[in-house]
Amino acid sequence: MTNESVFTLEATPIKFGAGASNEIGWELARLGAKRVMMISDRGVIEAGIAERMHALVEREGIECELFGRARVEPTLESFQEAADFALDGDFDGFVGVGGGTSLDTAKVAALIATHPAAILDYVNAPVGEGRKPPGPLKPLVAVPTTAGTGSEATTVAILDVPEERVKTGISHRYLRPHQGIVDPELTRSLPAAVTASAGLDVVCHAVESFLSRPYDARPAPESPDDRPPYQGANPVSDIWAAKALEHGGRYLRRAVADSDDVEARGAMMLAATLAGIGFGSAGVHIPHACAYPIAALKHEYTPAGYEADHPFVPHGQSVIVTSPAAFRFTYPADPDKHRRAAELLAGRELPNADEGTLPAVLLDLMRDVGAPSGIRALGYGEQDIEPLVEGALKQRRLLVIAPREAGPNELAGILRESMENW
Ligand SMILES: [Fe+2]
Repeated sequence: MTNESVFTLEATPIKFGAGASNEIGWELARLGAKRVMMISDRGVIEAGIAERMHALVEREGIECELFGRARVEPTLESFQEAADFALDGDFDGFVGVGGGTSLDTAKVAALIATHPAAILDYVNAPVGEGRKPPGPLKPLVAVPTTAGTGSEATTVAILDVPEERVKTGISHRYLRPHQGIVDPELTRSLPAAVTASAGLDVVCHAVESFLSRPYDARPAPESPDDRPPYQGANPVSDIWAAKALEHGGRYLRRAVADSDDVEARGAMMLAATLAGIGFGSAGVHIPHACAYPIAALKHEYTPAGYEADHPFVPHGQSVIVTSPAAFRFTYPADPDKHRRAAELLAGRELPNADEGTLPAVLLDLMRDVGAPSGIRALGYGEQDIEPLVEGALKQRRLLVIAPREAGPNELAGILRESMENW
């Protein structure tokens, strides 16, 4: 068996800057849309953003119908509701305005409207059928309002499957939006807790992809079609991840401390997109694999500072809590790269780095922005380790690009160490 020798980099065309969202109608017109579905959520509507975007689209002579029920933590049901709306509306374009949930819901609406089928047909196996979309989707524009998921730059839509107590998703290159519009002005209304969690997600995307198993350590695929979307670290994804790490270390504390610090919020928004391009190529692994069951297993935790009508663990909190232990575990795979990740995030040289250095830099940042101390704070105890491990093991797609093989025992160890980080 020969090893992989090829990597690919595909990126969403991005329009970035204060006021960029004013060009939303122009972009949709450029893509040929005449009648679009705008997918958004309650918070974005209450902040008046959706209404303003709606007016900008109609000003270009494009009909626009607002679907405002994207749910924080999308489920099959909430995706289906959006898909039904999309199927009934005879739309030729889609635009998501909001956090990762709205953007992911927009991806699914565009997918089902273009290639009608049951949503589960497209959901990753083993939860769904893992069918590939048969062709490109109708035009899809993504306008993020949080600096987190980087969903505008990625090929995935994540959903919660409560019956199976698991999070999974649809993942294919055709889900990548045709255009991302990233406007830092749109994050001004975000509560500090949301900025913190979203920013910690950015940091995890960057560290995980930077430290993922190199693309050429995996066997070559039999056909280009079988090359995984998450390919492992490569020279180009490293550039994006490194820059995102630098930004996260330099600006996240400021962005959380002051919502009017437009420079810091803009830098975090840029970091989200940079990290999204990096992990869209390289992938994420152990903290994200653990995060899905942490978010999906229990629904008891009510985060401060969020407006949701149900208890949930914000995605950024669910990923960051296991990151110190995860990177202590992966350290032997590439000590030098772990040191570089720590230095980028800390913004200074750390010549005597060891396995505890990157975890310590992450812990400092977590404490400074008010992250939960560990999975115990999210409602989990020793008795939950086993089901959490089981849930994490379902994320095969992610675990295969971990730099060190993480099986049941290793994952249990990481989760146990992450009960209380301080
Ligand atoms: Fe994430």
